[in-house]
This record gives sequence, structure tokens and C-alpha cells, in this order.
Amino acid sequence: MECFFIGIFDFIKVYFDILRYTNKKSEYIIYYVKLKKKEDNLMKKNEEEKYQICWNITSRCNQNCKYCHRFLGIKELSLKDNKKILKKLIKDGITDITWTGGEALLYKDVIKLMKIANEAGVRNKLITNGIIFSELKDKEKDELCKNLESIVLSIDSINNEVNQELGRGFNHYNTVKKDLEYLKDKEIKININTVLNRKNLDQIEDLAQFLNNYKIDTWKFFRFMPLRELAKENKEEFEITDKEFSDIIEKYNYLSNVNKMNYKQEEQIEERVLIVENGDIIMTEDGNEETIDVKKGNAMTDSVIEIIKESRRKANQSNFRDKLKVDINQHENKNCTKYPQCCNGAHKKEKGKEPDIDD
Ligand SMILES: C[S@@+](CC[C@H](N)C(=O)[O-])C[C@H]1O[C@@H](n2cnc3c(N)ncnc32)[C@H](O)[C@@H]1O
Ligand code: SF4
Repeated sequence: MECFFIGIFDFIKVYFDILRYTNKKSEYIIYYVKLKKKEDNLMKKNEEEKYQICWNITSRCNQNCKYCHRFLGIKELSLKDNKKILKKLIKDGITDITWTGGEALLYKDVIKLMKIANEAGVRNKLITNGIIFSELKDKEKDELCKNLESIVLSIDSINNEVNQELGRGFNHYNTVKKDLEYLKDKEIKININTVLNRKNLDQIEDLAQFLNNYKIDTWKFFRFMPLRELAKENKEEFEITDKEFSDIIEKYNYLSNVNKMNYKQEEQIEERVLIVENGDIIMTEDGNEETIDVKKGNAMTDSVIEIIKESRRKANQSNFRDKLKVDINQHENKNCTKYPQCCNGAHKKEKGKEPDIDD
């Protein structure tokens, strides 16, 4: 009730401002009502849990990165079908969508989908190589940015030869530079993704100096992952060692203009839910020897949110097991804090063995 009166009060206040300063009354009132609805939805979403997906809207691409782990040859859906999926996601309570691919901007109507999501209070993030963005007219860029909370530009090096060799193309540095120049005054979070691989390890210092000229929210290092198609085929060419990876993340843990440094490697991609080009819901899981993609359903008919919840439940269970393992070792020194759980039969087992909590 209180909220209702505050809402009405705000509305009347804005209405009188509009009367005073403009004669485009109806346009402004519609704008205000839309804005308020969006804010309310966002607030509601923030209070609830975050439900996030990556949506590979197309596998088509205008670059040819030899390390790329995108899916190849999956047929994409029509706008009509993707709208159906999006409406179901919104109804089920999705909070965050990362639009990716392939190159998401090659899907002609992706901006229409982003707009629907944004108006429903979903936070949109776009991962892009920046080429199509650099070719849009300013008005089109603004229209796109209006529907995004953040834009992620991928760049691995500022050296044209290296970019050519990686398959990003000779001009990629200039393209990203043009995009960053355009974005620097806009109200949108700018993030950067860099794939650390055999061919760019000695390029990171130059890249860091270049990026530090801009206000970057998050610069994320991806360790090259030999996942799927091309990435698997070209594994030898790009793979780096644990030490090479940790040396870089240690060295670049701070840059004055970058708000957050972040990194990701294969072990951390479990729990990632993907919608792929044909609507299939895929989760990346640990296989016997390598990471594998497991189909969990199709977003046309199945609930992505339920799949995320189920995967979180499983992750909690395995965290619990890991914790118990630690306590078993402490048990040896008689300072185990979880005695009732770990002693539920487990302490009778051999030293070092994991208790079976399903007993
Ligand atoms: C598959 S791309 C799709 C979006 C867009 N085409 C781009 O390159 O930004 C999404 C992100 O995954 C990264 N990536 C691609 N292949 C990878 C691999 N094998 N290991 C780790 N990251 C990879 C890309 O650099 C990019 O930041
Ligand atoms: S990393 Fe992105 S730009 Fe490069 S080939 Fe893969 S999808 Fe295309």
C-alpha cells in the first residue's frame, strides 16, 4: 500500500514537471510509465535469485578463429520460434541473458529479441567480436546499447599479424579500438574477453596498456579450452600449461582503469546452461576424460529454470561431500567440527576415504 502511494506521488510529481517543461505530454507519460515498469521488474528480479543463460542464437560467424569452441552446423530457429522461447524464459523467471554464438549480430532480428527481454526487465549482455557493431550507424548503435546492460568485446592481441594467425583477421585491433572509442562516453558497461593461448601469451602486456586507456568494467581471461569442433581439432596449436595461465592471472591482477580482473578455465564452466541454435538446452559437464556437452531438453517445451535449479541442487550436494572430506582429515586430530555428519558411519571407514553420505 505504501509503495502504491509512493508510486502515485512520484507519478504526479513527474507529471507536473512534464507540464511545466514540455508540450509533448503524452509521449513523456508513456515513456515514464514504461521506465517505471522496467525499474519495478528489475527490482523484483534483484530480490529474487539470479537465473542466467547463454543463448547461442546463431553459429554463423564473420571471423574464423582457429581456437573457437562454437557449435558448428546446428540449424538456427526462425524469429517466431525464438520469440516463443524468449516469452517462455521470461514467464519462467529468467533474469540474465548473454547473447552469443557464433556472432550474435549476424542474426538479423537479435535486436528485436533483446528489446523484448529488456522491456520485461531481463538484463542483456552481448558477447561480440565487434565487427558488425563497428559498421552500424550511430543511431543503430545507440538503439542496440539501449537494450543492453553490458557489451563484451573479444580481443586477444593488438598485433595485426597475431590476430591474422588466430583467425580474427588483420584488422581486428582497429575494429575493437573504433568500438571502444564510440562506447567510452556511453552509459553501458564495457567488458573484454581475451583467450589466453599459445600464440598470444607474449602479447598481453601490449594489450593491457591499450585497454588501460578505457574504462573497462571487467577484463576476463579465458584459458583456451579444447572443447568441441575446431578447438578440439587444433588443441595442440593453442593449449597452454597451468603455470603459463597462473603466471598471467597473477601478473595482471590489477590495472588502474579496469574495475575487475577475472578469469575462467575449463573446470569452472560446469553449471553453465546454454541454449543452442535449435533451442536445445545444453549443460557442459565433466566426462570421464574431458568436458562433455549433455542435452537436458529443448527450450520450446522444457523449463530452463528447472534445469538450473536441479543443477544447483546437485552442485550443493557435491560441495557438501567435499566439505565432509576435509572434516574426515580433521577427525584424525580430534578437532572435527561436523562430528554428527562425518560420524554417520564414516569414521569407521579407512583413513582418507570419502564417507558415503547417501547411506
Ligand atoms: C564463442 S565466442 C562468440 C561471441 C563472439 N563471436 C566473440 O568472439 O566474441 C564467445 C567467447 O568465447 C571465447 N572463446 C572461443 N573459443 C574459445 C576456446 N576454445 N576457449 C576459451 N574461450 C573461447 C571467445 O573469445 C569469446 O570471447
Ligand atoms: S570466437 Fe567468436 S568470432 Fe571467433 S570464430 Fe568463434 S564465434 Fe566467431
